[in-house]
Amino acid sequence: MSKGRIFSGMQPSGKFHLGNYLGALENWVRLQHDYECIFSIVDLHALTSKYEDTRELPENIHNMALDWLSAGLDPEKNIVFVQSQVKEHAELHLLLSMMTPLSWLERVPTYKDKLQQLGSQGKDINTYGFLGYPVLMTADIILYKADTVPVGEDQIPHLELAREIVRRFNHLYSPVFPEPQAKLSKAPLLPGIDGRKMSKSYGNEIPYAASPDELRARVRLMVTDPQRIKKTDAGNPDVCTVHKFHKIFNLNQIDEISQSCRQAGIGCVDCKKRLAEQMVINLADIHVRRSEYEANPSRVKEILAYGNERARKMAAATMEEVRQAMNL
Ligand code: AMP
Ligand code: TRP
Repeated sequence: MSKGRIFSGMQPSGKFHLGNYLGALENWVRLQHDYECIFSIVDLHALTSKYEDTRELPENIHNMALDWLSAGLDPEKNIVFVQSQVKEHAELHLLLSMMTPLSWLERVPTYKDKLQQLGSQGKDINTYGFLGYPVLMTADIILYKADTVPVGEDQIPHLELAREIVRRFNHLYSPVFPEPQAKLSKAPLLPGIDGRKMSKSYGNEIPYAASPDELRARVRLMVTDPQRIKKTDAGNPDVCTVHKFHKIFNLNQIDEISQSCRQAGIGCVDCKKRLAEQMVINLADIHVRRSEYEANPSRVKEILAYGNERARKMAAATMEEVRQAMNL
Protein backbone atom coordinates (compact mmCIF):
# COMPACT_ATOMS: atom_id res chain seq x y z
CA MET A 1 0.00 0.00 0.00
CA SER A 2 1.25 3.47 -0.92
CA LYS A 3 2.05 5.85 1.95
CA GLY A 4 1.27 8.84 -0.23
CA ARG A 5 2.36 10.68 -3.31
CA ILE A 6 5.87 12.00 -3.79
CA PHE A 7 7.14 14.65 -6.16
CA SER A 8 10.77 15.66 -6.39
CA GLY A 9 13.09 17.17 -8.96
CA MET A 10 16.71 17.93 -9.74
CA GLN A 11 18.27 20.48 -12.01
CA PRO A 12 20.21 19.05 -14.95
CA SER A 13 23.36 21.03 -14.24
CA GLY A 14 25.68 18.44 -15.78
CA LYS A 15 27.80 17.54 -12.79
CA PHE A 16 26.12 14.87 -10.78
CA HIS A 17 28.44 13.62 -8.03
CA LEU A 18 28.51 10.93 -5.35
CA GLY A 19 27.25 13.45 -2.76
CA ASN A 20 24.13 14.04 -4.85
CA TYR A 21 23.66 10.30 -5.15
CA LEU A 22 24.05 9.46 -1.46
CA GLY A 23 22.27 12.61 -0.26
CA ALA A 24 19.28 12.46 -2.56
CA LEU A 25 19.01 9.90 -5.33
CA GLU A 26 19.70 6.82 -3.22
CA ASN A 27 16.87 7.95 -0.97
CA TRP A 28 14.50 8.25 -3.93
CA VAL A 29 15.39 4.73 -5.00
CA ARG A 30 14.35 3.51 -1.55
CA LEU A 31 11.17 5.59 -1.45
CA GLN A 32 9.91 4.25 -4.78
CA HIS A 33 8.85 1.05 -3.00
CA ASP A 34 6.55 2.76 -0.50
CA TYR A 35 5.15 5.77 -2.34
CA GLU A 36 3.61 6.66 -5.65
CA CYS A 37 6.47 8.73 -7.09
CA ILE A 38 6.86 11.40 -9.73
CA PHE A 39 10.42 12.53 -10.46
CA SER A 40 11.23 15.39 -12.78
CA ILE A 41 14.36 16.63 -14.50
CA VAL A 42 13.65 20.31 -13.91
CA ASP A 43 15.21 21.99 -16.93
CA LEU A 44 13.09 25.15 -16.56
CA HIS A 45 14.59 25.64 -13.11
CA ALA A 46 18.05 25.27 -14.63
CA LEU A 47 17.16 28.22 -16.90
CA THR A 48 16.45 30.51 -13.95
CA SER A 49 20.15 30.84 -13.22
CA LYS A 50 21.65 29.80 -16.56
CA TYR A 51 19.69 31.30 -19.41
CA GLU A 52 22.42 32.82 -21.58
CA ASP A 53 23.90 29.64 -22.95
CA THR A 54 21.60 26.67 -23.26
CA ARG A 55 23.64 24.55 -25.68
CA GLU A 56 24.53 21.90 -23.10
CA LEU A 57 20.97 21.46 -21.87
CA PRO A 58 19.95 18.48 -24.06
CA GLU A 59 23.09 16.56 -23.14
CA ASN A 60 22.70 17.38 -19.45
CA ILE A 61 19.10 16.17 -19.48
CA HIS A 62 20.12 12.93 -21.14
CA ASN A 63 22.93 12.41 -18.61
CA MET A 64 20.62 13.05 -15.70
CA ALA A 65 18.24 10.43 -17.05
CA LEU A 66 21.21 8.03 -17.22
CA ASP A 67 22.15 8.91 -13.63
CA TRP A 68 18.65 8.15 -12.38
CA LEU A 69 18.10 4.99 -14.37
CA SER A 70 21.49 3.56 -13.47
CA ALA A 71 20.77 4.19 -9.78
CA GLY A 72 17.77 1.90 -10.11
CA LEU A 73 14.82 4.29 -10.42
CA ASP A 74 12.16 2.22 -12.11
CA PRO A 75 10.54 4.16 -14.99
CA GLU A 76 7.49 1.90 -14.99
CA LYS A 77 6.76 2.11 -11.30
CA ASN A 78 7.51 5.85 -11.11
CA ILE A 79 6.77 8.68 -13.47
CA VAL A 80 10.13 10.01 -14.69
CA PHE A 81 9.87 13.02 -17.00
CA VAL A 82 11.25 16.34 -18.23
CA GLN A 83 9.61 19.45 -16.76
CA SER A 84 9.63 21.61 -19.92
CA GLN A 85 7.84 18.85 -21.87
CA VAL A 86 4.73 19.20 -19.74
CA LYS A 87 3.45 22.70 -20.55
CA GLU A 88 1.05 22.70 -17.60
CA HIS A 89 4.04 23.57 -15.36
CA ALA A 90 4.37 26.88 -17.19
CA GLU A 91 0.63 27.51 -17.11
CA LEU A 92 0.18 26.85 -13.40
CA HIS A 93 3.32 28.87 -12.63
CA LEU A 94 1.74 31.83 -14.42
CA LEU A 95 -1.57 31.51 -12.58
CA LEU A 96 0.12 31.15 -9.19
CA SER A 97 2.28 34.19 -9.93
CA MET A 98 -0.90 36.30 -10.07
CA MET A 99 -1.72 35.60 -6.42
CA THR A 100 1.76 35.36 -4.88
CA PRO A 101 2.69 38.57 -3.05
CA LEU A 102 6.07 39.95 -4.06
CA SER A 103 7.06 40.29 -0.42
CA TRP A 104 6.74 36.52 0.13
CA LEU A 105 9.29 35.92 -2.63
CA GLU A 106 11.68 38.65 -1.58
CA ARG A 107 11.90 37.28 1.93
CA VAL A 108 12.84 33.71 0.91
CA PRO A 109 16.32 33.41 2.49
CA THR A 110 17.84 31.56 -0.46
CA TYR A 111 16.82 34.40 -2.80
CA LYS A 112 19.11 37.20 -1.60
CA ASP A 113 21.92 34.75 -0.73
CA LYS A 114 21.99 33.22 -4.16
CA LEU A 115 21.60 36.58 -5.87
CA GLN A 116 24.71 37.79 -4.07
CA GLN A 117 26.65 34.58 -4.50
CA LEU A 118 26.03 34.33 -8.24
CA GLY A 119 26.34 38.10 -8.66
CA SER A 120 29.86 37.94 -7.24
CA GLN A 121 30.68 35.29 -9.87
CA GLY A 122 29.65 37.80 -12.53
CA LYS A 123 26.26 36.23 -13.23
CA ASP A 124 23.29 38.53 -13.57
CA ILE A 125 20.25 36.78 -12.18
CA ASN A 126 18.34 39.91 -11.30
CA THR A 127 15.48 38.52 -13.31
CA TYR A 128 11.77 37.99 -13.01
CA GLY A 129 12.26 34.24 -13.54
CA PHE A 130 14.80 33.82 -10.76
CA LEU A 131 12.59 35.61 -8.24
CA GLY A 132 9.80 33.25 -9.25
CA TYR A 133 11.89 30.08 -8.75
CA PRO A 134 9.89 28.92 -5.72
CA VAL A 135 6.58 29.62 -7.48
CA LEU A 136 7.63 27.30 -10.31
CA MET A 137 8.68 24.74 -7.72
CA THR A 138 5.26 25.03 -6.07
CA ALA A 139 3.57 24.48 -9.43
CA ASP A 140 5.71 21.35 -9.98
CA ILE A 141 4.58 19.78 -6.74
CA ILE A 142 0.91 20.68 -6.66
CA LEU A 143 0.19 19.89 -10.33
CA TYR A 144 0.35 16.26 -9.19
CA LYS A 145 -1.25 16.95 -5.79
CA ALA A 146 1.84 15.48 -4.15
CA ASP A 147 1.78 15.45 -0.33
CA THR A 148 5.42 14.48 0.30
CA VAL A 149 8.56 16.11 -1.10
CA PRO A 150 11.98 14.54 -0.43
CA VAL A 151 14.55 17.36 -0.50
CA GLY A 152 17.71 18.64 1.15
CA GLU A 153 17.54 21.02 4.11
CA ASP A 154 18.23 24.03 1.89
CA GLN A 155 14.82 23.58 0.24
CA ILE A 156 12.75 23.91 3.45
CA PRO A 157 11.95 27.63 2.92
CA HIS A 158 10.67 26.80 -0.57
CA LEU A 159 8.27 24.25 0.87
CA GLU A 160 7.01 26.67 3.47
CA LEU A 161 6.25 29.10 0.69
CA ALA A 162 4.55 26.35 -1.33
CA ARG A 163 2.19 25.70 1.59
CA GLU A 164 1.42 29.41 1.88
CA ILE A 165 0.59 29.61 -1.82
CA VAL A 166 -1.61 26.50 -1.56
CA ARG A 167 -3.51 27.96 1.40
CA ARG A 168 -4.06 31.19 -0.50
CA PHE A 169 -5.29 29.39 -3.60
CA ASN A 170 -7.60 27.08 -1.65
CA HIS A 171 -9.00 30.06 0.29
CA LEU A 172 -9.50 32.36 -2.72
CA TYR A 173 -11.03 29.81 -5.13
CA SER A 174 -11.71 26.30 -3.93
CA PRO A 175 -9.83 23.61 -2.01
CA VAL A 176 -8.07 21.95 -4.94
CA PHE A 177 -4.61 21.27 -3.47
CA PRO A 178 -3.16 19.40 -0.45
CA GLU A 179 -0.38 21.13 1.54
CA PRO A 180 2.93 19.45 0.66
CA GLN A 181 5.36 18.43 3.41
CA ALA A 182 9.16 18.15 3.13
CA LYS A 183 10.79 14.79 3.81
CA LEU A 184 14.43 15.26 4.76
CA SER A 185 17.02 12.66 3.82
CA LYS A 186 18.85 11.19 6.81
CA ALA A 187 22.12 10.77 4.90
CA PRO A 188 24.94 12.88 6.34
CA LEU A 189 26.81 15.29 4.08
CA LEU A 190 29.47 13.53 2.04
CA PRO A 191 32.88 15.21 2.12
CA GLY A 192 34.80 15.84 -1.09
CA ILE A 193 38.36 14.62 -1.65
CA ASP A 194 39.71 17.74 0.13
CA GLY A 195 37.56 17.14 3.24
CA ARG A 196 35.11 20.01 2.67
CA LYS A 197 31.50 19.28 1.66
CA MET A 198 31.47 17.57 -1.73
CA SER A 199 30.30 20.24 -4.15
CA LYS A 200 30.65 21.00 -7.83
CA SER A 201 31.68 24.56 -6.96
CA TYR A 202 34.74 23.37 -4.98
CA GLY A 203 36.05 21.00 -7.66
CA ASN A 204 36.45 18.33 -4.96
CA GLU A 205 33.79 15.98 -6.26
CA ILE A 206 33.87 12.36 -7.29
CA PRO A 207 31.66 12.19 -10.38
CA TYR A 208 28.83 9.73 -9.97
CA ALA A 209 29.54 8.42 -13.46
CA ALA A 210 33.27 7.89 -12.73
CA SER A 211 34.69 4.66 -14.18
CA PRO A 212 36.54 2.28 -11.82
CA ASP A 213 39.88 3.79 -12.87
CA GLU A 214 38.61 7.34 -12.35
CA LEU A 215 37.32 6.30 -8.93
CA ARG A 216 40.74 4.93 -7.99
CA ALA A 217 42.43 8.12 -9.22
CA ARG A 218 40.11 10.38 -7.20
CA VAL A 219 40.57 8.26 -4.05
CA ARG A 220 44.38 8.51 -4.44
CA LEU A 221 44.04 12.30 -4.20
CA MET A 222 42.04 12.26 -0.94
CA VAL A 223 43.42 14.14 2.05
CA THR A 224 44.33 12.04 5.09
CA ASP A 225 45.44 12.88 8.65
CA PRO A 226 47.78 15.86 8.06
CA GLN A 227 49.82 14.94 11.18
CA ARG A 228 50.70 11.56 9.73
CA ILE A 229 53.70 12.31 7.56
CA LYS A 230 55.55 8.99 7.49
CA LYS A 231 54.04 5.52 7.47
CA THR A 232 55.67 4.90 10.87
CA ASP A 233 53.64 7.77 12.43
CA ALA A 234 50.47 6.66 14.19
CA GLY A 235 47.41 7.99 12.35
CA ASN A 236 44.14 9.47 13.61
CA PRO A 237 41.20 8.12 11.57
CA ASP A 238 38.83 10.65 13.20
CA VAL A 239 40.32 13.48 11.12
CA CYS A 240 40.83 11.47 7.93
CA THR A 241 38.62 11.84 4.85
CA VAL A 242 39.47 8.33 3.62
CA HIS A 243 38.16 7.02 6.94
CA LYS A 244 34.85 8.83 6.45
CA PHE A 245 34.48 7.07 3.12
CA HIS A 246 35.35 3.68 4.64
CA LYS A 247 32.46 4.32 7.06
CA ILE A 248 30.09 4.56 4.12
CA PHE A 249 31.50 2.07 1.66
CA ASN A 250 33.45 -0.42 3.77
CA LEU A 251 31.75 -0.89 7.12
CA ASN A 252 32.90 -4.53 7.33
CA GLN A 253 36.58 -3.73 7.44
CA ILE A 254 36.47 -0.41 9.24
CA ASP A 255 37.39 -1.58 12.74
CA GLU A 256 40.42 -3.49 11.58
CA ILE A 257 41.59 -0.65 9.32
CA SER A 258 41.24 2.11 11.92
CA GLN A 259 42.97 0.05 14.58
CA SER A 260 45.83 -0.64 12.21
CA CYS A 261 46.05 3.06 11.27
CA ARG A 262 46.24 4.11 14.92
CA GLN A 263 49.12 1.66 15.45
CA ALA A 264 51.05 2.84 12.39
CA GLY A 265 50.24 -0.46 10.69
CA ILE A 266 48.44 0.08 7.41
CA GLY A 267 49.78 3.00 5.35
CA CYS A 268 47.63 5.61 3.62
CA VAL A 269 48.41 4.26 0.15
CA ASP A 270 47.13 0.78 1.03
CA CYS A 271 44.21 2.17 2.99
CA LYS A 272 43.15 4.15 -0.09
CA LYS A 273 43.57 1.12 -2.33
CA ARG A 274 41.27 -0.93 -0.14
CA LEU A 275 38.70 1.85 -0.09
CA ALA A 276 38.82 2.29 -3.87
CA GLU A 277 38.31 -1.44 -4.49
CA GLN A 278 35.37 -1.49 -2.10
CA MET A 279 33.80 1.52 -3.82
CA VAL A 280 34.24 -0.14 -7.20
CA ILE A 281 32.42 -3.22 -5.87
CA ASN A 282 29.65 -1.18 -4.25
CA LEU A 283 29.03 0.86 -7.36
CA ALA A 284 29.38 -2.05 -9.81
CA ASP A 285 25.62 -2.53 -10.35
CA ILE A 286 25.29 1.14 -11.16
CA HIS A 287 28.13 0.94 -13.68
CA VAL A 288 26.63 -2.10 -15.38
CA ARG A 289 23.21 -0.49 -15.68
CA ARG A 290 24.77 2.74 -16.88
CA SER A 291 26.69 1.10 -19.70
CA GLU A 292 23.56 -0.73 -20.81
CA TYR A 293 21.62 2.52 -21.08
CA GLU A 294 24.59 4.36 -22.57
CA ALA A 295 24.69 1.81 -25.36
CA ASN A 296 21.02 2.47 -26.06
CA PRO A 297 20.28 6.23 -26.13
CA SER A 298 17.02 5.78 -28.03
CA ARG A 299 15.71 3.60 -25.18
CA VAL A 300 16.41 6.49 -22.77
CA LYS A 301 14.52 8.86 -25.09
CA GLU A 302 11.57 6.45 -25.17
CA ILE A 303 11.53 6.21 -21.40
CA LEU A 304 11.39 9.99 -21.04
CA ALA A 305 8.71 10.30 -23.74
CA TYR A 306 6.63 7.71 -21.89
CA GLY A 307 7.09 9.57 -18.60
CA ASN A 308 6.22 12.92 -20.23
CA GLU A 309 2.99 11.41 -21.55
CA ARG A 310 1.95 10.03 -18.16
CA ALA A 311 2.82 13.28 -16.38
CA ARG A 312 0.86 15.30 -18.96
CA LYS A 313 -2.29 13.28 -18.29
CA MET A 314 -2.17 13.94 -14.56
CA ALA A 315 -1.23 17.60 -15.01
CA ALA A 316 -4.00 18.19 -17.54
CA ALA A 317 -6.60 16.80 -15.14
CA THR A 318 -5.43 19.13 -12.37
CA MET A 319 -5.46 22.13 -14.72
CA GLU A 320 -9.10 21.40 -15.60
CA GLU A 321 -9.94 21.79 -11.93
CA VAL A 322 -7.80 24.91 -11.60
CA ARG A 323 -9.39 26.65 -14.58
CA GLN A 324 -12.84 25.80 -13.30
CA ALA A 325 -12.00 27.06 -9.80
CA MET A 326 -10.70 30.33 -11.28
CA ASN A 327 -13.51 30.76 -13.80
CA LEU A 328 -11.17 30.59 -16.78
P1 AMP B 1 22.84 20.52 -5.45
O1 AMP B 1 23.36 19.97 -6.75
O2 AMP B 1 23.93 21.04 -4.57
O3 AMP B 1 21.69 21.47 -5.62
O4 AMP B 1 22.24 19.28 -4.65
C1 AMP B 1 21.26 18.39 -5.14
C2 AMP B 1 20.88 17.41 -4.04
O5 AMP B 1 22.03 16.66 -3.58
C3 AMP B 1 20.31 18.09 -2.79
O6 AMP B 1 19.25 17.30 -2.31
C4 AMP B 1 21.46 18.10 -1.80
O7 AMP B 1 20.98 18.03 -0.48
C5 AMP B 1 22.25 16.83 -2.18
N1 AMP B 1 23.70 17.04 -1.94
C6 AMP B 1 24.51 17.93 -2.57
N2 AMP B 1 25.79 17.85 -2.13
C7 AMP B 1 25.80 16.86 -1.17
C8 AMP B 1 26.82 16.28 -0.33
N3 AMP B 1 28.08 16.68 -0.37
N4 AMP B 1 26.45 15.30 0.52
C9 AMP B 1 25.16 14.87 0.57
N5 AMP B 1 24.17 15.37 -0.18
C10 AMP B 1 24.46 16.36 -1.05
N1 TRP C 1 14.79 23.41 -6.13
C1 TRP C 1 15.15 22.00 -6.10
C2 TRP C 1 16.67 21.87 -5.88
O1 TRP C 1 17.43 22.71 -6.30
C3 TRP C 1 14.77 21.31 -7.41
C4 TRP C 1 13.28 21.29 -7.59
C5 TRP C 1 12.54 21.94 -8.54
C6 TRP C 1 12.37 20.54 -6.79
N2 TRP C 1 11.24 21.66 -8.39
C7 TRP C 1 11.08 20.80 -7.34
C8 TRP C 1 12.52 19.71 -5.69
C9 TRP C 1 9.93 20.26 -6.78
C10 TRP C 1 11.35 19.16 -5.13
C11 TRP C 1 10.08 19.42 -5.67
O2 TRP C 1 17.11 20.88 -5.30
